[in-house]
Amino acid sequence: MKALAILRQEHSALAAILHGLEFIGAKLERGEHFDLKVLRAMLFYIDSFPDRFHHPKEDGYLFPTIQKRTGAADAVIAKLEDEHHQGMLAIRVVEQRLLHYEEGGAAYATALAESLHGYIESYRRHIRTEEEVLLPIAEQVLQAEDWRELDSVFTGHRDPLLGLDARQGFERIFTHIVSIMPAPLGVGPAN
Ligand SMILES: [Fe+2]
Ligand SMILES: [Fe+2]
Repeated sequence: MKALAILRQEHSALAAILHGLEFIGAKLERGEHFDLKVLRAMLFYIDSFPDRFHHPKEDGYLFPTIQKRTGAADAVIAKLEDEHHQGMLAIRVVEQRLLHYEEGGAAYATALAESLHGYIESYRRHIRTEEEVLLPIAEQVLQAEDWRELDSVFTGHRDPLLGLDARQGFERIFTHIVSIMPAPLGVGPAN
């Protein structure tokens, strides 16, 4: 698979998890029961997959390769890099509020739902900026040799941490989440 297709596929996996988080956030706001282990599994995925597997491809390889060819994307790249950092901090807040909710109960539901909502909105905006602003610039300015280099890194030939073994680890977690998420989002039991 080629670099662009890999990035888009990873965005789709992230979008599916964000959708699941939104579903649980809505249940929280309505005071409806949901399975905490599903929320924990999704938070684990969205906390680890981007920082260890997805953002390094962008920060370490895609962004600098674009900047080697053009300065036109400098502002948007600075914004995206900052959002990677902010996202890492924001998910810590969600996790902390989940702890409060687990120990403190319903009084903490709104705070958790609000942090989830903010996180989901920001991450969706981030992915949209990459897909609609940055990737089109990449398609315009990158040369065949740049794509060969990115393909080789993203398929793990140059950086094993970004390759197939790591991908399969995250795919197993994703499959597990789908198996425990209730319908219509997954195939797990209704709760
Ligand atoms: Fe990103
Ligand atoms: Fe991305």
